[in-house]
Amino acid sequence: MKLAVIGYPIRHSKSPFMHNIWLDELNIEGVYEAIEVSPDRLAQQIQTFKENHYKGFNVTIPHKEHVIQYLDEIDETAAILGAVNTVVINNGKCTGYNTDGDGFLQSLLLKRTAEEIRKSAILVIGAGGAAKGITGALRAFGADQISVANRSPEKAERLIKTLGLKSGLNLTEAQNRLYDYDIVINTTSVGMYPDTENLPLDSSSMKKGALAADIIYNPLSTQFLIKAESAGAEALNGIGMFVFQGSLAFQKWTSKEPDAAGMMAKMTDKMNQE
Ligand code: ATR
Repeated sequence: MKLAVIGYPIRHSKSPFMHNIWLDELNIEGVYEAIEVSPDRLAQQIQTFKENHYKGFNVTIPHKEHVIQYLDEIDETAAILGAVNTVVINNGKCTGYNTDGDGFLQSLLLKRTAEEIRKSAILVIGAGGAAKGITGALRAFGADQISVANRSPEKAERLIKTLGLKSGLNLTEAQNRLYDYDIVINTTSVGMYPDTENLPLDSSSMKKGALAADIIYNPLSTQFLIKAESAGAEALNGIGMFVFQGSLAFQKWTSKEPDAAGMMAKMTDKMNQE
């Protein structure tokens, strides 16, 4: 089975490490490669995948939105988000999906029950592609107390409208009300290597026992998570989301469920070594 991830740049992708281990563990003959594809070569690359009988591929920055025009079908979630991270090829036909939001939700379920998630006051920081996927998945799961805080209010307003949410905040308002939230999720890239000293807002004013979640996994402990923990909140790093979005994609290609828990441990070791 031939699989790949395309992006530009792509050399730092951890997806080949993860998927090749899973192919091995499940005795599936195949290989998952990282292919650097510049935007002007996107259409051509997809044609190559079809001609060479690839089973599918992942899509990452900067192609998640542009790829849609070259696909034959996209599922409803990906259509609403306007972004695809997983493509399945069946008989030369490409279908696009987005597993990012559900991947995040599955990792959140390691820390909170379904009922707790639905009852939680949730704050999403950021209003980009990642925020859209996560917020959409939380909504579909039945969480209805979701606020979005973003640096530029127009983008937050757009997200709130698209998803039919109640409230949008600016970052100062969010900072002042941080204590009111049970779950606070950083979906921005603030705090990601090499910007490791920064954080999207000061999480040391979070409520004790609340949960701080970051989609960043490099570093494993961002300043956002470290400060939240100093206030007695729990922390969830981005390893879970990365592994589960991959697991959901893997299941679409192979119809087999890979070992996500084992992979979280392996990925954590790998990140600690780097
Ligand atoms: P992605 O698709 O990965 O979510 P994106 O669409 O570029 O990426 O969105 C990035 C998000 O991080 C945005 O919400 C962005 O805020 P703006 O809408 O105001 O641009 C947020 N972000 C990025 N850098 C930031 C910073 N230094 N401070 C606060 N927010 C930031």
